[in-house]
Amino acid sequence: MIDIHCHILPNIDDGSSSMETSIEMARIALEDGIKFIIATPHYIEYEHEIPREAILKNCQELNQFLIQKGIELKILPGAEVFISPTIVESYKKGKIISLNDGRKYILIELPVAAYPEYTEDIIFEFKVMGITPIIAHIERYFYVKDDFELVFRLINKGALIQVNSTSVMGLFGKEVKNKSIDLIKHRLVHFIASDAHTTRGRVPKISEALEILRKERVDESYIDYILINSQKVVRGEEIEILDPIKKKVKWFYRLKRRF
Ligand SMILES: [Fe+2]
Repeated sequence: MIDIHCHILPNIDDGSSSMETSIEMARIALEDGIKFIIATPHYIEYEHEIPREAILKNCQELNQFLIQKGIELKILPGAEVFISPTIVESYKKGKIISLNDGRKYILIELPVAAYPEYTEDIIFEFKVMGITPIIAHIERYFYVKDDFELVFRLINKGALIQVNSTSVMGLFGKEVKNKSIDLIKHRLVHFIASDAHTTRGRVPKISEALEILRKERVDESYIDYILINSQKVVRGEEIEILDPIKKKVKWFYRLKRRF
C-alpha cells in the first residue's frame, strides 16, 4: 500500500517531533503493509512556508536512517498545501512541491469551518496547468453537508477526494466516521490515506479502515480502485474518475434546507 498523506518528516511541522518518532512511524506503517509514504508537511502561505529544498533534504535524511535500520519503506517528497488565493502563483514560482515532486498531483487542505468561495477557481487554474488537486480529508469539513453537493461540484471541477483512514476508524467521532463511509459508498472518494502525525492515535495505518469498509459492504473492486489510485499518484499516471452515485436526500433534510 501507499500512503499519500502523512506528517512523517521530523521537526518540520506539527507531525513527527523527532527522528526516532519518524522511524517508529515508518515501522508501524510497514507492519500495516505500507511500502511507500509521501511525506506531506503543512505548507501555509505567509505562515509556514517550508522551502521545497528542506522537504527534499529531510526526505533524503529519513530514507538514509530507514536503510540503516533495515526498514524497507521509502519516503517520497510532497506537501499538504493550505488553500490561499496565492498558491497557484507560489507554485509557479517553484515554492510549492507537488506530490512525489511529479507536477501532476497536489494535495490541498481547506479550512475546517468556512468554505473559501475561490476554491473552484484554484482547482481550475491548477487543471489548466495539467495538475490535479486532491482535496485532503473532505469528511472533516463542517460545510460538507449530507447531500454531498459540494463534493460533487469539486469533482466536476476536476478535483479528486481524499478521506483519512483514521476518520473511517472513528478517531474523529461517530459523525465523521459515518460521513466518511457514506462518501465512500457514493463513490465520491479517490484515496484513503493516514494523515498520521505520530505513533499513537493518528498513526500511519490504512488496513484497519479497509477492513471496516469491507464489513460495511463496500465493493472489493472499489477498495482496489482506491488503492491503485495512490500508486498512480506516485507514478504520475492519469486516474479514471468513476461516476459517483447521486445521493438520495431524505425529505426532512430537504425541508430543513428550505427554512
Ligand atoms: Fe494532514
